[in-house]
Amino acid sequence: MAKTETPGENAQLKDIISHAKEYGFVYPSSEIYDGLQAVYDYGAYGVELKNNLKRLWWETMTRVSDNIVGIDAAIFMHPTTWKASGHVDSFNDPMIDNKDSKKRYRADVLVEEHAAKLENEGQVEKANSLTAALARLLEAEDLAGVRDLITNEGIKCPISGTSNWTDVRQFNLMFSTQVGSVAEDASTIYLRPETAQGIFVNFLNVQKTARMKVPFGIAQIGKAFRNEIVARQFIFRMREFEQMEMQFFVRPGTELDWYQKWADTRMRWHLALGTPAAKLRKHDHEKLAHYANAAMDIEFEFPFGFKEVEGIHSRTDFDLKSHQEYSKKKQQYFDPEINQNYIPYVIETSIGADRLFLLTLCNAYTEEKTEEKSRTYLKFHPAVAPVKAAILPIVKKDGLPEKAQEIVDALKYDFNIIYEDSGSIGKRYTRQDLIGTPFCIAVDHQTLEDNTVTIRHRDTTEQERVAISELHGRIAEATSFRRIFEKI
Ligand code: GAP
Repeated sequence: MAKTETPGENAQLKDIISHAKEYGFVYPSSEIYDGLQAVYDYGAYGVELKNNLKRLWWETMTRVSDNIVGIDAAIFMHPTTWKASGHVDSFNDPMIDNKDSKKRYRADVLVEEHAAKLENEGQVEKANSLTAALARLLEAEDLAGVRDLITNEGIKCPISGTSNWTDVRQFNLMFSTQVGSVAEDASTIYLRPETAQGIFVNFLNVQKTARMKVPFGIAQIGKAFRNEIVARQFIFRMREFEQMEMQFFVRPGTELDWYQKWADTRMRWHLALGTPAAKLRKHDHEKLAHYANAAMDIEFEFPFGFKEVEGIHSRTDFDLKSHQEYSKKKQQYFDPEINQNYIPYVIETSIGADRLFLLTLCNAYTEEKTEEKSRTYLKFHPAVAPVKAAILPIVKKDGLPEKAQEIVDALKYDFNIIYEDSGSIGKRYTRQDLIGTPFCIAVDHQTLEDNTVTIRHRDTTEQERVAISELHGRIAEATSFRRIFEKI
């Protein structure tokens, strides 16, 4: 179970990973046992950042939008759910093992990476024909053909350096476990691979009890589990992760308008959070899943290239219709405006909380080098920064710690505040920079005389003198979600 090699991690990502570990954001899971591949734990500052991102998403959906409500469905669901959704039969990745290194790879990823290498070497045409051949073979589910492609191209295992490959097989990504007696076959259940199905099976419950009228949405944040073959690039692809999904139920025939609207709204959300436009792009899916009539990803430029952060999918009535078939319970909505019953169509927005966390960390990680000094800091949007302000008495005597503690007490019910009195003031500023605290508030002897403090701003390192009575308002203004909501 030891953590294995992590190809694809470049120098910048490595710096971010070690920063995340050293400063209390993300640790490998069960590290004292050498970790568990593709599973991670969040530390003191990581959990605050992640909770802030989740709360921002939740409030955007359930407060800023008038017609979206939330649910919190269980991770375990009736096993037929996953028959109806198609996951039992087709939630597969093609895998191949190298017989010498005993390493397992996703066959399609091996070919894609080989094509990318060819492209980097200037063999663009060859790379394109390779990816086109791969797409044709996957479409035809020709796994023997995929293996031939790998061997004919001379693709080698990066560990053993040989082409001694097994056949390509389909590998279902769902984790299964047993409920009750292990012996009974019927007791096999799955850890959900997406949160969306918890929303679909509750569609009528929510619609009726929250008295929702189409068009309306149901939002959910929760854990999902996938037995990913290619697990790497830190928290980008994990086996246990969190999704933030929203299913928006619409009248059939209006779905493509809503799809466009949600794609634009979600892009504005990312921009409002401070992600530079140049680092975001939309990527339309050329090959649509069987249930979709339009789909796109919002991609972010991670240190390892542009990759999906969020998916926007027009899922038609596939899921509700399929649950109606399998459960034999009608999943229809009566639309009083047109006097008709129908199964609503669905637009889904789906974003990984961990992937958004990684995006936020990559965006924030800043190394500044001038001739005099170098400085590393995390330039988080103040609204999501784990700690909003650090209160720092410049010396540990003369009543300054007590005065600083009074300020902490006045602010701590509304903001996550740190008190720190050890080490030089410069070192304490540096430490707050490293965890991305937007404001450092120094308490000195003048404070005792006139109730003013020095605010030091993280991004500019500029300092200003302000009255203690102004602190609450200043911090509230800078950290409020409202400024983000207003831009969406
Ligand atoms: N319900 C639709 C769905 O699950 P998906 O594209 O498979 O669609 C949606 O996943 C989002 O979930 C992705 O855009 C990504 O942010 C996140 N995600 C998916 N697999 C992940 C993994 N193994 N680790 C971390 N995040 C993942």
